[in-house]
Amino acid sequence: MSPPDATDLADLVPDTESLVARLAEVGYLADPNLATALFCAVRLPQPLLLEGEAGVGKTQAAKALAELLDTPMFRLQCFEGIDASEALYEWNYPRQLLGIRLAEARGEGLAEESLFGEDYLIRRPLLAALEHPGPRPAVLLIDEVDRADEEFEAFLFELLAESTVTIPEIGTLRATHQPIVILTSNRTRDLHDALKRRCLYHWIEYPALAQAIAIVRARVPEASLELATQVAGAVQRLRSLDVQKPPGVAEAIDWVHAAQLLGIDTLDEDGIEATLGSVLKYREDHDVARAATLRWIADPARALRQASDDLRSDAAAADA
Ligand SMILES: Nc1ncnc2c1ncn2[C@@H]1O[C@H](COP(=O)(O)OP(=O)(O)OP(=O)(O)O)[C@@H](O)[C@H]1O
Ligand SMILES: [Mg+2]
Repeated sequence: MSPPDATDLADLVPDTESLVARLAEVGYLADPNLATALFCAVRLPQPLLLEGEAGVGKTQAAKALAELLDTPMFRLQCFEGIDASEALYEWNYPRQLLGIRLAEARGEGLAEESLFGEDYLIRRPLLAALEHPGPRPAVLLIDEVDRADEEFEAFLFELLAESTVTIPEIGTLRATHQPIVILTSNRTRDLHDALKRRCLYHWIEYPALAQAIAIVRARVPEASLELATQVAGAVQRLRSLDVQKPPGVAEAIDWVHAAQLLGIDTLDEDGIEATLGSVLKYREDHDVARAATLRWIADPARALRQASDDLRSDAAAADA
């Protein structure tokens, strides 16, 4: 196996700070801890397991990395029952049959080896990433690995540890350029320790308020600072409520898009009422938000002032 094009990668990503800057250039804002994890994944190289709540930017981290490295990303979307034929390779049966028929028509035989050669191989994402010819290694995104079965995790071990895969009819294939592997999980189940041992690990937290505002502005540049700030604050408050699906960064971005489409410049009570479906996706969560009052979600300081004004006028009415 030839090593990854280290000089090239070292030029592109010499340190964590420059990775943060390059990620920002492609619209992805990473905090220093995430950037450090990505830096190690690229430069060691070692697979990186990213976990975090839905919509915190796990998948986008891999996409942004591929974009800044100007290299293709191969994405394997995991699901229950996924197996090697979807992940690694499959034999192209229709083509093999055609090959046999054509050989028969020509009155020739077709040796079994030639039927199971590279021409008849359909390359799935894992194999495509391993065979990527460069100049830089491909990014391999193994997305939502927690959805796959445990047997599939075990199947990934060889690839993660050795950057090789074995195809019985062909033999062991080694990566031309060891891919940069990013795995993501939503923790619907615990992953096997053996898988974790082979990976670096990073938990992506919800972004702090200032970072959330910056992300919204980076993704929706046409949104005003005021709207971005209001939405990011409101999303944080919704997250503090007892909702089934706390909103992530993705919902904040969707919320700004919806508000813009409806011509809402200031997110007040009515604006939230009109756009609540962009950010909360359960009827019960809408009830929880309304119980906390949309006024409080829009602007807690104003809601507090209003409540004390109401109390004062109630007291005055009672005195009168
Ligand atoms: N740090 C960030 N910088 C820029 N955009 C971000 C960031 N985090 C999230 N986003 C945006 O939020 C959206 C959701 O991100 P992404 O799909 O990567 O989340 P995820 O963690 O993979 O969610 P899920 O678990 O549901 O798959 C995307 O549009 C992405 O661009
Ligand atoms: Mg994702």
